[in-house]
Amino acid sequence: MTTTSRNRRAVITGVHAHVPDYVLTNAELAAMVDTSDEWIVTRTGIQERRILKGEDQGTSVIGIAAVRGLLEKTATRPEEIDLLICATTTPDLLFPATGNIICHAVGATSAFSYDLQAGCSGFLFALVAGAQFIETGKCRKVVVVGADKMSAIIDYSDRATCIIFGDGGGAVMLEPTTEEVGIVDAILRTDGSGEPYLHMKAGGSRRPASFETVAAREHYVYQEGSTVFRFAVKNMADVAFQIMRQNGLGPDEVAFLVPHQANKRIIDATAEKMGIGSDKVMLNIHKYGNTTSGTIPLCLFDYESRLRRGDRLVLAAFGAGFTWGAVYLRWAYDGK
Ligand code: UT7
Repeated sequence: MTTTSRNRRAVITGVHAHVPDYVLTNAELAAMVDTSDEWIVTRTGIQERRILKGEDQGTSVIGIAAVRGLLEKTATRPEEIDLLICATTTPDLLFPATGNIICHAVGATSAFSYDLQAGCSGFLFALVAGAQFIETGKCRKVVVVGADKMSAIIDYSDRATCIIFGDGGGAVMLEPTTEEVGIVDAILRTDGSGEPYLHMKAGGSRRPASFETVAAREHYVYQEGSTVFRFAVKNMADVAFQIMRQNGLGPDEVAFLVPHQANKRIIDATAEKMGIGSDKVMLNIHKYGNTTSGTIPLCLFDYESRLRRGDRLVLAAFGAGFTWGAVYLRWAYDGK
């Protein structure tokens, strides 16, 4: 789908993020599986990732912390929130939605909320969904959360996946504006033929949990890495380039690429296709790995102090589904 600019746009008026304290280093992983710091850094760019430890700690823990910080920063009372969309692939429970749990915890008593699952593109899909509620005038304050506890579905004896993923996330506030800032355009895509290459085999309605599924280790991320890599490089780069072209944006006009953090080599390929230098690429994969729905708000939060009102940002992602997309927006405020 494609949105075009209208009189009333949705604009990001604040961002906050949260990562758990526990740092899982490459050295610690190398003691668990046959891998090395050198292999992980060269092939992915990841040095460490965060892990949410403890009993009964789900993705909502990350989402609640991010939303509480966001409300404080934007001086918003929780009951002012009209809608909260939580993008996640690792909900606390199959139901009810993690968004409902977050709203209850932060006191967002006037909001309706739901979860959105689009793999690593989840935050972009949720951002665009939230923007529609603002553009139509239905909502005035929409919180979009992107958060995942990937460690809940990672097999720490599988070196092909355990080195990549981490836990974390963030949240943004969307509000209406008629000024020259906000979400200008979006391109979102899905291709269900990607299912065989990246999925979790059991735990859903097709193959509910059983002794057999647990014994067969089917409740973990299954990924054919090099196939996913090929699709990711092509589609993320193409969609980022396409959104620049259809908005008449040259490389000099883009202040930052905000890419999903799956693999530094995918990010480099996207920047190259856009014709922008590494100084314009938000990067924190070395600290957090791939937090799935969390990567883009985590990037915006980490780079917030460097952003200026009017900056043109291109957000881009690729993930399970396959899903992919790009969003072009103009930043609303000077970071401190
Ligand atoms: O965010 C959602 C979407 N996901 C992605 O975008 C991930 C895309 N894929 C990737 O980032 C990369 O494919 C990986 C990082 C997962 C793997 O890197 P790769 O360069 O594609 O490696 P590969 O899977 O082609 O494997 C190359 C070799 C294999 O050994 P042989 O068969 O050549 O002897 C693997 O067994 O590297 C081996 N290998 C490892 N070696 C050391 C795989 N994982 C590891 C490891 N440490 N952790």
